[in-house]
Amino acid sequence: MADARPFHWEFRPEPVAREIFRIEGGRPLSGSVRVSGSKNAALKLLAAAILTGERCRFSNVPEIEDVRVMAETLRDIGVVVDHPEKNIYEVASGDVEWLFVPLEAAAKMRASFMLLGPLLARFGRVIISNPGGDRIGRRPVNLHVDAMRALGAEIEYRNGYYFARAPGRLRGAELRFPIVTVMGTENAMLAATLADGHTVIRPAAQEPEVDDLLGFLQKMGAEIERTYPDTIEVEGRKRLRGADHRVLSDRIEAGTFMIAGAVTGGRVTLEEAPCDHLEAFVEVLQRAGVEVACDHTIIEVDGRGMDESLRACDIETAPYPGLATDLQSPACVLLSQARGTSRVHETVFEDRLEWLAELGRMGANVRLIDDHHAEITGPRRLHGAEVEIGDLRAGASLILAALAAKGTSTILGAHHVHRGYENIDGKFLELGARIERVAEGTVTTSP
Ligand code: EPU
Repeated sequence: MADARPFHWEFRPEPVAREIFRIEGGRPLSGSVRVSGSKNAALKLLAAAILTGERCRFSNVPEIEDVRVMAETLRDIGVVVDHPEKNIYEVASGDVEWLFVPLEAAAKMRASFMLLGPLLARFGRVIISNPGGDRIGRRPVNLHVDAMRALGAEIEYRNGYYFARAPGRLRGAELRFPIVTVMGTENAMLAATLADGHTVIRPAAQEPEVDDLLGFLQKMGAEIERTYPDTIEVEGRKRLRGADHRVLSDRIEAGTFMIAGAVTGGRVTLEEAPCDHLEAFVEVLQRAGVEVACDHTIIEVDGRGMDESLRACDIETAPYPGLATDLQSPACVLLSQARGTSRVHETVFEDRLEWLAELGRMGANVRLIDDHHAEITGPRRLHGAEVEIGDLRAGASLILAALAAKGTSTILGAHHVHRGYENIDGKFLELGARIERVAEGTVTTSP
């Protein structure tokens, strides 16, 4: 097994086609949509499969760009990743050829850093790029690195890469995170399952995707348990076995389609929806005056005749069980249609309100106060515009705004949305939307 790749090596996933969405808005959406598997669960499950040499099989994996990039990254280090049919992935990492995760993979997707814990725990070393290269600052990975060091790893940072080694096995430890971190918790969980001894992770993130990963690790034979809501304990094992797992439904996709029903004045039913994981979000919708009915795995949003009755409400994002930061931008589209001034407090990330400038270009009355606070005053009838997507969730939210708007919108940067939403335009078409994808000057109607 080599330490690093030869210099001529290059990571070359297939190029991402540059596309735009063209949307003719103002039509109420109605019908049913099946919620896909969760992106943020699937990516970690694929990484977890490296903890064993035996085959792991995942169903309900969303067909999205981030999963494709993770699969390519795994194949590039020598892991066998099969994709025998739609939504099914099989991973066998009997041997791993290269313990090297390059910048090209990391720059495409922050979740590539999820390979640190499992590669270190199983193979004792890895060289892994800082996600986003040398740009340390926004969305750092210091907490992941600190956790691995606490588990006994030696890690040096040079030229944009972390050089990590674990002399012998990692050692169980008491891990104390200064703040709640989802992937930090998950990386620590993966590493601890093969460490020598007992690990306590506190505060452990409580997101449903973390528990989906925990359930899969248990199926692999790991001794891991959530002993208190904010505590996960692990007794390390020498080896784990292969397992099968169905990825849980994507609560963020579900929330996005709920807003679509509300802001277009339509009626949308979601099937295979994770009702239990959307409590804080449903509470926001209800405060704003939206009718939502949840029953096990079915959610219905009825936005008909609601435009007059929507009320402003203040929202604040927080780690689970609070309101998900990933649902802040869809919620803002709703608030732009509500009567009065809503205050938005984004507590998790510092760059997640920037997209509101684009919503403003579509006619919304938004005031950005600082990196974490904004005000939205409504209702304002949105109109078609040319806007640009800066990131995944902002992209989905601009689609929502365009669906609600009068006139035609052109949304640049569609590839950001394909990173995390399976067949989003196809699903909106099923609900009666007028949406098409335009790729490099060629007009194509969405499938
Ligand atoms: N943080 C640090 N140092 C670290 C790690 C995190 O300072 O080493 C900070 C972050 O900058 C942030 C806070 O801690 O201010 C919380 O970030 P967290 O680590 O929880 O986020 P993450 O694990 O990187 C995951 C999801 C995000 C989601 C957040 C919060 C995946 C692949 N990503 O990110 O999802 O917004 O948790 O719930 O699971 C998305 O799907 O669009 C997305 C960005």
